Amino acid sequence: SAAEKGGYDYFMLKEIAEQPKAVADTLLGRIDPSGSLTLDEVRISPSELREIEKVVIVACGTAFHAGLIAKYAIEHWTRIPCEVELASEFRYRDPILDGRSLVIAISQSGETMDTLMALRHAREQGSKVLAICNTNGSTIPRESDAVLYTHAGPEVAVASTKAFLTQLVACYLVALYLGQVRGTKWGDEIQAVIKDLSRISEEVERVLETMEPVRALARTLATKNTVLFLGRHVGYPVALEGALKLKELAYMHAEGFAAGELKHGPIALIEEDLPVVVVVPSPRGRSVLHDKIVSNIQEIRARGARTIVIAEEGDEAVVPYADHLIRIPATPTLLQPLVATVPLQVFACELATARGNEVDQPRNLAKSVTVE
Ligand code: AGP
Repeated sequence: SAAEKGGYDYFMLKEIAEQPKAVADTLLGRIDPSGSLTLDEVRISPSELREIEKVVIVACGTAFHAGLIAKYAIEHWTRIPCEVELASEFRYRDPILDGRSLVIAISQSGETMDTLMALRHAREQGSKVLAICNTNGSTIPRESDAVLYTHAGPEVAVASTKAFLTQLVACYLVALYLGQVRGTKWGDEIQAVIKDLSRISEEVERVLETMEPVRALARTLATKNTVLFLGRHVGYPVALEGALKLKELAYMHAEGFAAGELKHGPIALIEEDLPVVVVVPSPRGRSVLHDKIVSNIQEIRARGARTIVIAEEGDEAVVPYADHLIRIPATPTLLQPLVATVPLQVFACELATARGNEVDQPRNLAKSVTVE
């Protein structure tokens, strides 16, 4: 009913709007007043966490994209090698696991059969499994050694939005906590990022306030057949997520690429007026990546692409090559997905609406996939 949708036309719109609160709720009570993380609820002891030699993340769909982003954070802040694998592929390749591997299973519903089978396999090999889950008492957390709940609240729309942002927050918390417990050389950076994280829900709110031009742009693209998404570093999984949203909702051909791969093949796809969304890393910090992606934008534009550029406020280098410019607040590089994903959700939702599609219940899809 309209009341359930809180005055919005679709659950998806309501859930996109709820993201600042979902992010804040997922952080609530997990950062103590001194600025350290308290994740006692995880119930894997600090000494066990210090022994871990490898992290393996298993998940499907959007949750898998959260896992891909988590890898950058975990390896950077903890120096523990981290693999990310589609849950449906994981156990069939006979993965190498033991008691010193920490397996993280990410799932909104907690009922995804592929992810459940992957975690069962991991536990049979003697690994500890930590679930990141949004649904209290569901099967995946019940069968795991420990759980860190995301507090997105119920997600009704089939396309995941607020659950994704809270999965990212939970992944950052796990990465920062592992870094804190193991005392890496990134101690100061970890402290600074915890502060940034505690302010991030306001930045998500600011993004939501500036989405009207993104909607207007989406409506102009309703008759297109293909949209490409490019990103680098954590912007690459964001590009994959943008493409998945568009497939699910707009039933359009959409593909995400690592921008550095362009010249190894995908650039052949570029043709006159093809919309290409580019997620640009911050010019601060890893500025090499920024400069490389700016030249990618130049290259595709020279070949006729219609460039839709998502870039941090104050990044002037992209301006000459952006047919459409979507601004996001400046954040530390690793946290950028929390703000960069939001315009892509809005874009997909509006395009789907413009094409007359059923936003909350896309064809052929179920909210949780309980078969393998
Ligand atoms: C997201 O928009 C999708 N509907 C889908 O990819 C989903 O993320 C995937 O099926 C995993 O679901 P889960 O998080 O409930 O395990």
